[in-house]
Amino acid sequence: MGDDMKQPIDVSAGEFRHAMSHFATGVTVITSVDEHGEPAGTTANAVTSLSLDPPLVLVCFDLDSLTLRAIRSHRAFVVNVLAAPQQHLSANFARRGLAAAWEGVRHRRGPTGSPRLDDVLAILECTLEHSLPGGDHEIIVGRVRHVEISAIASSPLVFFRGTYTALAG
Ligand SMILES: Cc1cc2nc3c(=O)[nH]c(=O)nc-3n(C[C@H](O)[C@H](O)[C@H](O)COP(=O)(O)O)c2cc1C
Repeated sequence: MGDDMKQPIDVSAGEFRHAMSHFATGVTVITSVDEHGEPAGTTANAVTSLSLDPPLVLVCFDLDSLTLRAIRSHRAFVVNVLAAPQQHLSANFARRGLAAAWEGVRHRRGPTGSPRLDDVLAILECTLEHSLPGGDHEIIVGRVRHVEISAIASSPLVFFRGTYTALAG
């Protein structure tokens, strides 16, 4: 590694966030059911495929997330993969625990009871397999029980350098 690539040992939260913002991701809304039976959901891009056999995904949640609390009690959740025209859903579910966030959001309950949002690119319906510590986040590992892929050939919503973008055509 050349001298110009040497990094300081201490990295501030801002520097870390800025560096990671260069890792382009898709955008999902993770949905579940809270302890009162009401739908819960949050926007998340810390989502990855973990294992093929068994099929596992992982999602990282801020420890304060109300959706995390819902998943701990409901023990199931849905990964809703957003399409490019669904930026408004990403913004909507980035608001903390607002029941009002569900007003006008078309959805239906899947086999585990968690909400499936209409017109998303893909749905992965999961049961809670493990939860692991991850600093100020918690790593939720879900076992994928059902999948559904949209018939509409839409491009994905992409998050890059702190802003929404689209794939170059
Ligand atoms: C594009 C984007 C990606 C996000 N990714 C995550 C994530 O992976 N994990 C997380 O805990 N919060 C993430 N957030 C922030 C949450 O959506 C936000 O804190 C939300 O208010 C939490 O809601 P809740 O407390 O009702 O669960 C993201 C926000 C945006 C806009």
